[in-house]
Amino acid sequence: MVNIAILGFGTVGSGVAEVMEENAQSISHNAAEDIRVKYIVDIRDLSGSPFADKLTRDFSVVENDPEVQVVVETIGGATVAYEYTKRALLAGKSVVTSNKELVATRGHELLEIAKRKNVNYLFEASVGGGIPIIRPITQCLTANELDEIYGILNGTTNYILTRMITDGAPFAEILKDAQRLGYAEADPTADIEGLDAARKICILADLCFGKSVDPESISVEGISGVTLEDIEYARRLGCKLKLLGRAYRLPDGHITAYVAPHLISKTSLLSNVDGVMNGIVVHGNALGECMFYGAGAGKRPTASAVVADVIDAVKHMKARKYIGWEESEPGWVVNAEDVKTRWYIRTGSGLEKIGRAFGDVRLISYPGDYPGAGPGEYAFATPELTGRELSAKTSTMEIRSRFRIL
Ligand code: HSE
Repeated sequence: MVNIAILGFGTVGSGVAEVMEENAQSISHNAAEDIRVKYIVDIRDLSGSPFADKLTRDFSVVENDPEVQVVVETIGGATVAYEYTKRALLAGKSVVTSNKELVATRGHELLEIAKRKNVNYLFEASVGGGIPIIRPITQCLTANELDEIYGILNGTTNYILTRMITDGAPFAEILKDAQRLGYAEADPTADIEGLDAARKICILADLCFGKSVDPESISVEGISGVTLEDIEYARRLGCKLKLLGRAYRLPDGHITAYVAPHLISKTSLLSNVDGVMNGIVVHGNALGECMFYGAGAGKRPTASAVVADVIDAVKHMKARKYIGWEESEPGWVVNAEDVKTRWYIRTGSGLEKIGRAFGDVRLISYPGDYPGAGPGEYAFATPELTGRELSAKTSTMEIRSRFRIL
């Protein structure tokens, strides 16, 4: 019998307890051990919950109980969660988490402690919700030199963009639905402004390229600037607007990583990743391209990945699985604004200014041809330019939107 403790009984933590109970038989079979939730650590009152008898407010009870061998951290954030994770690892317990903020910011340090203590720190649920992606990168694809990874990494924003496309519904109303369905972070700004996706692309880049990428150091843009006009003009170009996290190796061996809305072709597989679903594309030199698709957020999909990690931790008690990356040197991550790409522009400046900056461009829209457009509005696509070159060319123009074209 293996005893576990769940830290944090919110959406994911309670999902973990439910899945553990519902699938107890198959979980025991797959782990070759019975697994029991011995403690739930939370400051909330769980009276009325079937798990109320396991509640403790005191983490040291878990820390000092030698019977607890695996700790599930679903508190979120990088303060209390960091302290408890560190203490659990130092006490010789494996830790499983869905906490992308903690893995993205402190993963290197926590993995080093896990290594020293010969225990595991597993975080499959931190990226892509229920989609297997961490294990494929660290196990199934290790024969490859990986050179690119990108995808739709945030369910809340994908749900919002999808419903803007299909229903033309107002942003605030769609966000409320996403919160009600348990997709959004406690503070949805992290979803809307791209920070959640940034943490996830950094974890993927850490694993794919072997050196740490700090979410604070990369260029991050969310979806709050996306309008219904942008969605219409993207459609005219045969594209959909999607928020992507992307990291890839540059010809000189450095990498770039960033999060931004992109126009992606309707013929690409990713463009059909709609609603709360996530899709992640990996490119390796032996494999070529491979895409992972599934539920990227939500209670049970995320619990599915957490519980699978618990089973893996139980099966690898005292046998550490190698997962890790090195600290990176300054300059390892090139700012995405210095890398060339094609751009979609929506502007209130006239044809003369557009022509002076870009020469002949193919117009996607001009004043009067779309009822919802702002006054004097043009939209067009540019040739390949860095973000800085684009800013210099458009410094005297009134730019309403500028998004990358993949
Ligand atoms: N808020 C996140 C999302 C949850 O919407 O994708 C899963 O990480």
